[in-house]
Amino acid sequence: MTGVQVVALGGSLLRPEVMERHAWLEGMAAVVAEHVAGDGRLGLVIGGGQPAREAISLAQPLIDDVARLDELGIAATRLNAAVVQQILAGAGIDVAAAIPIDIEHAAELLEQHAVVVMGGTVPGHTTDAVAIRLAVAVGAGSCIIATNVSHVHSADPATDPDAVARERMTLSELQEIVGPPEHVAAGPTAVIDPIGVQVAIDAGLPLRVLDGRRLQQLAACIAGEAFEGTAVEVG
Ligand code: UTP
Repeated sequence: MTGVQVVALGGSLLRPEVMERHAWLEGMAAVVAEHVAGDGRLGLVIGGGQPAREAISLAQPLIDDVARLDELGIAATRLNAAVVQQILAGAGIDVAAAIPIDIEHAAELLEQHAVVVMGGTVPGHTTDAVAIRLAVAVGAGSCIIATNVSHVHSADPATDPDAVARERMTLSELQEIVGPPEHVAAGPTAVIDPIGVQVAIDAGLPLRVLDGRRLQQLAACIAGEAFEGTAVEVG
């Protein structure tokens, strides 16, 4: 598939305390419309954000099973995906009506529509890993991870004052930062899901990490132009 890009949109981008989300949604739809107008295709994988946190914390004291809690997170990602899908459809964009629940169906729909929006698939990882798998399946040149930090840092800036923002790094360096490919709990993980990083390593797929609140940077990255963020190359 030519001109295809896959973007993971972190659920935090839809959370009211993180940003003015209505203006962001409108701007995001404009970025998608621009890419599609240039004959591009786009797979969008949406994170669970606030509804995922709420559902997981509601059930957590009563459920001692990560996979069951993951199912609640997945339901939330699909709810958020439906919101984004409806907004894009309302803006007149050729977006698949279905929210696919597996990679194969998503790849198939992307042959028929300019845009496909999905959430999670199965327990055991996050939507970062889903987006990376979709990027591999449709032959995208990289996978864009749009989150709420501007760069991957050399360490966690919240706990390490010496952490520096990196503009480039290798997948192996990223793996050292995020840790081994394990899924131990439902809910937030490292800056990028370590399971997704392992999928990228196995497939030799570069990653592009940026702050999704900065729509100009997202548009530039989707267009394959220079962007502010971290380019994670194979190696
Ligand atoms: P997210 O992809 O939103 O992950 O999925 P996250 O890291 O918790 O949140 P953000 O968006 O980066 O802030 C929410 C939860 O849903 C489950 C996991 O429990 C995940 O933490 N999930 C999601 C799955 O089990 N499988 C999937 O394919 C997707």
